[in-house]
Amino acid sequence: MKFFIDTANLAQIKEAQDLGVLDGVTTNPSLMAKEGISGAENVKAHYKAICDIVDGDVSAEVIATEYEAMIKEGEELAAIDSKIVVKIPMIKDGVKALRYFSNKGIKTNCTLIFSAGQALMAAKAGATYVSPFIGRLDDVSTDGLALIESIRVIFDNYDFGTEILAASVRHPMHIIECAQIGADVMTGPLSAMEALLKHPLTDIGLAKFLEDHAKANG
Ligand code: E4P
Repeated sequence: MKFFIDTANLAQIKEAQDLGVLDGVTTNPSLMAKEGISGAENVKAHYKAICDIVDGDVSAEVIATEYEAMIKEGEELAAIDSKIVVKIPMIKDGVKALRYFSNKGIKTNCTLIFSAGQALMAAKAGATYVSPFIGRLDDVSTDGLALIESIRVIFDNYDFGTEILAASVRHPMHIIECAQIGADVMTGPLSAMEALLKHPLTDIGLAKFLEDHAKANG
């Protein structure tokens, strides 16, 4: 399973990249705003800065919601760097835009997926990735991981090449369960990735090894 980091924070992206486990980055308009990035040129420069750090796909979301405007904005985003994946919301004009970019060989990530039907539509339209938001489903008492399972079955039934990008991942168990189900990618915060490497018995064991070594070696 590929690991994407879900942030526009350059320091965190660099930290994850340096850890050696990072396969890509996802951003969204809220994450860009959180970093104080505004204005078309600043936004493009920030995406370029992200692409210069990471070895892998970088999702950049269109703000437009009408077909023609989505195409124009998506083409501008794709021109920033070959790592850019145009992120398109799951709306009717978005489905048309997915087909357009797919026909042109430009990678896409269909975002705001909350049902298997939406994922099927995005795959039919040639999306490179679909992003089911599992954490936000859990937030409204709906099983986000069950949605990943359902999409996995559908995509496998018909050999869709579209990758399942489990998004809105909040904690390490989300990551582990996504891996068990067979999500192709997960995107989440650095904290969730780092939590995977922690175990109290590791810390206790290491302390004991170092203590015994110190005793034996003075
Ligand atoms: C996906 O690409 C989104 O950026 C993201 O995962 C949303 O996560 P959130 O629900 O934690 O905001």
